[in-house]
Amino acid sequence: MLPKTVKISKIIDENPSVKTFYFSHNLKSKPGQFVMLWLPDIDQKPFSISSDDGENFGLTVFKRGPLTEKLFTLKVGDRAGSTGPFGTCYSILPNRHYIMVAGGYGAAPLSFLSTKICELPGVTIDFIVGARSKDLLLFEDRLKLIPHLKIHATTDDGSAGRKGRVTDVLEELLKNATSKPLVVTCGPELMEKAVLDLCNKYDSDCELSIERQMKCGFGICGQCAVDDLGLCMCIDGPVVNRALANRIFELGKYHRDKAGNKINY
Ligand SMILES: Cc1cc2nc3c(=O)[nH]c(=O)nc-3n(C[C@H](O)[C@H](O)[C@H](O)COP(=O)(O)OP(=O)(O)OC[C@H]3O[C@@H](n4cnc5c(N)ncnc54)[C@H](O)[C@@H]3O)c2cc1C
Ligand code: FES
Repeated sequence: MLPKTVKISKIIDENPSVKTFYFSHNLKSKPGQFVMLWLPDIDQKPFSISSDDGENFGLTVFKRGPLTEKLFTLKVGDRAGSTGPFGTCYSILPNRHYIMVAGGYGAAPLSFLSTKICELPGVTIDFIVGARSKDLLLFEDRLKLIPHLKIHATTDDGSAGRKGRVTDVLEELLKNATSKPLVVTCGPELMEKAVLDLCNKYDSDCELSIERQMKCGFGICGQCAVDDLGLCMCIDGPVVNRALANRIFELGKYHRDKAGNKINY
């Protein structure tokens, strides 16, 4: 778990505010886990792993503040600090039908999960990916190459796929399911809460990835503790199952800023 400096081996522009950075390092990670990425004199922040082939790992990053703005200026050959992998991962199970529900950069860790499970016997995947509009849909091209995976794209404005929300498609799939699927989700918290509510309604197994502000990444600082269980999402999460998610009081209601103040959704 010692910090390492890792070299950028490739950068892909996904859309104007999202890039995927590949780092040459054998991370030995599992889908759902994250790394703490450090840029000297700026900060360190958590990022979900979007791919890991044993030689390079990828992080798909949305540009939003000091660290990600600086990261967007880096070039192939530049280095960053990385610690991890940390946290819990999604279940990797044979003979299971997965329904994946992704919003925004949540498509990245779920596409990593898809590449891991698609070769297992008896696995099929319905992958629901949503965005506000066509140009913001992430990973559609990469997902098309994954065997046994069917994509259901949704956009708020109807510019690609079906007009509407990812949860509209999820409800149809859950209603018509012939076997018990495993629903896995990653994206904005209110979307994840809506997914959880549907899984409760249809009594479906479910795994969610919960994002909280993180400082250390391994259970020391308490920054990522959730009310009212006090569990740290960097070690007991970010991936939690339905039973645990239902016990997290603050889920879908509020999170905390860097100073610990409650921010209502
Ligand atoms: C487990 C985990 C996995 C993540 N994976 C990814 C990923 O794959 N790709 C990606 O782009 N980002 C991811 N993030 C979020 C990423 O860590 C933040 O975007 C990061 O803080 C950006 O740093 P910054 O300095 O650029 O902006 P900051 O100044 O830190 O943040 C800009 C704004 O975003 C808010 N914010 C930052 N982090 C969070 C958070 N965790 N929860 C709620 N609001 C927050 C801040 O309050 C602020 O308003 C993940 C976070 C967690 C906890
Ligand atoms: S980030 Fe420090 S305890 Fe979770």
